[in-house]
Amino acid sequence: MSQFTIKINGESHQVDVAPDTPMLWVLRDHLKLVGTKYGCGIGACGACTIHVDGVATRSCLLPVSVVGEGAITTIEGLSAKQDHPIQLAWLEHDVSQCGYCQSGQIMNAASLLNQNPDPTDSEIDIAMNGNICRCGTYIRIKAAIKTATNNS
Ligand code: FES
Ligand code: FES
Repeated sequence: MSQFTIKINGESHQVDVAPDTPMLWVLRDHLKLVGTKYGCGIGACGACTIHVDGVATRSCLLPVSVVGEGAITTIEGLSAKQDHPIQLAWLEHDVSQCGYCQSGQIMNAASLLNQNPDPTDSEIDIAMNGNICRCGTYIRIKAAIKTATNNS
């Protein structure tokens, strides 16, 4: 075990874990930030997507030991009042179905807009391609991203 101090959603947290512990489990098991979901554990589904310095990152593949000074944002910290333009657009389009994949979808979409505030259709498709939704909400996800683009 080793001690790590990590900045998450604007606050410092200390955890005592093995250095190779994925951030997904630090968040869920040690800090009870369970909005970040476990889907595959191998980087193939996107359910575990968080931001590191504003960039979408798969927390199941991110060992706690490499986070360093990186500022982590989870779905719980994306906005103060669940009013990020992506979150508002998600509500407007009633995107969620079972909801399991949705925090990862929202974090990936928010990261896309951080880097590219006015993405084209194909840029949205490419950016969201790795986030799997078993409920097939892809059409509403894309519509919501376009609404958020126009409103932000
Ligand atoms: S749980 Fe991380 S990509 Fe699937
Ligand atoms: S909303 Fe059910 S898996 Fe995406």
